[in-house]
Amino acid sequence: MKQCLTMVVIRTFGLFFMVKLCSLVCLHDYVQQDTHVVSPPAVIPHKTRIFRRSTTWAPQMPLRVTPWYLPGETALLTPSQSTQLHSAMREVTKIISNMLSVHRSEGPLLLNRDMNKYCRSVWGDPSLPNYKRCGSRDNSYHGERCLDVVIPDSHLYGYEVWPMNGIEPDHVTPSGTGVLDTDFLLYVRVAQTEKCALQPSVIAYAAYCQLDHSGRPIAGVIVFCPKRLKDGIYQHQHVMQVCLHEILHALGFSSSLFERWIDCSFSGHMCSSRSRVTNTDERGQLRIYTPNVMQRMGEHLGAGSVGAPLENQESPASSHWESRIMQGSILTASLSPPHLTFLDPITLAAFQDMGWYGVNTSIHSHLVWGKGAGVYFGLPSTCQDKLAGFFCGEEGEIGCHYLHLDKGNCSTDAYLDGCRIYKPLIQGGECWLLQEHHVSDEIYHPQSRCFFSNLTKEMKHEKVKGRCYLHRCVAPNIFQIKVQGSEWTDCPAGEWIEVKGYEGILLCPNGRLCLGFDQPPAPTTVPTTTPIYSTFPQITSPGLRVQLTTMQNLNWNTAKKFLTEEVLAVIAQHAGIQRCFLHASTLDKDLSFVLMVGKPNNCHPHPTGSSPHSSIVNLIDNPITYESPHFSTVTIRLLSPGSQNSIFSEVSLIVGCVGVILFCTMILVICWCKHRARVSQVRDIYHAQP
Ligand SMILES: *[C@@H]1O[C@H](CO)[C@@H](O)[C@H](O)[C@H]1NC(C)=O
Ligand SMILES: *[C@@H]1O[C@H](CO)[C@@H](O)[C@H](O)[C@H]1NC(C)=O
Ligand SMILES: *[C@@H]1O[C@H](CO)[C@@H](O)[C@H](O)[C@H]1NC(C)=O
Repeated sequence: MKQCLTMVVIRTFGLFFMVKLCSLVCLHDYVQQDTHVVSPPAVIPHKTRIFRRSTTWAPQMPLRVTPWYLPGETALLTPSQSTQLHSAMREVTKIISNMLSVHRSEGPLLLNRDMNKYCRSVWGDPSLPNYKRCGSRDNSYHGERCLDVVIPDSHLYGYEVWPMNGIEPDHVTPSGTGVLDTDFLLYVRVAQTEKCALQPSVIAYAAYCQLDHSGRPIAGVIVFCPKRLKDGIYQHQHVMQVCLHEILHALGFSSSLFERWIDCSFSGHMCSSRSRVTNTDERGQLRIYTPNVMQRMGEHLGAGSVGAPLENQESPASSHWESRIMQGSILTASLSPPHLTFLDPITLAAFQDMGWYGVNTSIHSHLVWGKGAGVYFGLPSTCQDKLAGFFCGEEGEIGCHYLHLDKGNCSTDAYLDGCRIYKPLIQGGECWLLQEHHVSDEIYHPQSRCFFSNLTKEMKHEKVKGRCYLHRCVAPNIFQIKVQGSEWTDCPAGEWIEVKGYEGILLCPNGRLCLGFDQPPAPTTVPTTTPIYSTFPQITSPGLRVQLTTMQNLNWNTAKKFLTEEVLAVIAQHAGIQRCFLHASTLDKDLSFVLMVGKPNNCHPHPTGSSPHSSIVNLIDNPITYESPHFSTVTIRLLSPGSQNSIFSEVSLIVGCVGVILFCTMILVICWCKHRARVSQVRDIYHAQP
């Protein structure tokens, strides 16, 4: 993992936050502060026509998280990225429904409207029949948002506006149909937002935006930064890991929700609010002190009952576990690579203590870091102690990551308060990755692990460091090792051994190998399902009009040479089709050209099965963020879908420029004025095609 490098200032709603720029930073706390959260109205007026979900207690059933993909936004991704995203969401929602259960409410899920927004005034006189009802609508009300996603009216309860005395409302906006089979509605957005742009390491971030009567989050949003998905270094497992991490925040592990956790441990159906979830210990570390969390943390450290520490490098409150003490947990602020990160028992205990969920106790979870190391483990004052084999001493020293799958580099980061740990090498440290050609006596193989050793065949003195050798399990914590050319040799946990035929020694780790979880990651396979293209309209004609708007100072003669080519490349990339499918007429003076989608002889068949046409249709009306010296945003518009001759559609590609709002407005006016003339021009060009 890369180190925290710089400090960056993010500007959000006029506030400045100092954010550490780490390899995998989580923006949840910052994003949640910007999210308006709506709860159900406390008092439901009588005779209301608003349909409410039943609140009767049902048995706990698996939590159903329903992803709601904003129409067309996945056009920012290539079909394979889009498939990867859908499949990551599917797998994560499955993990969550395996892990958490809720008392489901009957009927479709409907979200609440904020009365303070839609209503300008409320009848306030208790003697009035319509007391507490909305008396006048706020005309500036334009519905509800979840962070920056506009919630469809069909997902929302309706509302009414009442006269002072009447028995009929003046105005009724009916409720929507809601979302079926859903306990948590997750809006999925793919957008190169300001937060994505300012945080080079962020893959995704999430927030909740609606709570139910008990305080449980019932809706939220997850935003994927498309450029991060494109980089290729973040593979499927990586996307899944970040997705799970973020959704766990949105489901309740959020500093903003700690004070809303409830205690439902009493018999019957009554719950009470918890007096105090977090508190600061005598060293100034904020900890969670709820019963299950304290018990699990104590069991883990072998130390009675202990509060579980929250990250002290994020203020004022953190939604992450302390990195020094919870390495490898899915909910630390800086995540390790996916094969070294797990759901841990303390996180599961926290979800139990929220009070909203039943937690599946047979789900796989483990925390190896600090196991049995006692109550003083991982304090800045005790982490110099290398004896337990968790922390290390000398910066840059090559040893083994504590799970022994990878070699590690002794280093620190902004969350470790100066403590050092062996972080997995960025490259070439995966002992479990098969390599045919190795330079030394080491063996890289799925059955290899990292061992501290200075074994050598030559007579020269070697320093002890992390090396990869084969191992095989005999029983839990009992195993043998094999060095290049040696026999299988018993390796008693915790002891240094010698190996026949070699000089030097090797340390057999204790409590790390052959425990049942230390399997190397399976090769990444992304299920190949067809992306949801069938819902989009079909283009029946090869003639498409592309209109460009570009930088103010762009010279048309220069633009003519490269702009068409550049725009075609961007269109092809975003449609996920080969460039050779696309052809353009020469660029007109008004920066427009006709786009043709065809299949020349030298073009290979479209790999995804969907037609290049339908891939192009996906790009209509969806802004594509693209950084080039000449343009930054691309929008393809369907200008005359209802034109009389419906066998062709007209598409306009607007290449937007950043910040030149006045200029864009001007262009829009010009475009609008030229509209009619252009329509007839397009028809002429179309009919000229075979
Ligand atoms: C609990 O987890 C186990 C192991 O993952 C799984 O087999 C089982 O179906 C889960 N139970 C529920 C109710 O989801
Ligand atoms: C180990 O980390 C240090 C920085 O902490 C870095 O300079 C060095 O190149 C790293 N070594 C390896 C082998 O990755
Ligand atoms: C291996 O390391 C041990 C302990 O540091 C040292 O005593 C021994 O001489 C080393 N052996 C070789 C072959 O370098």
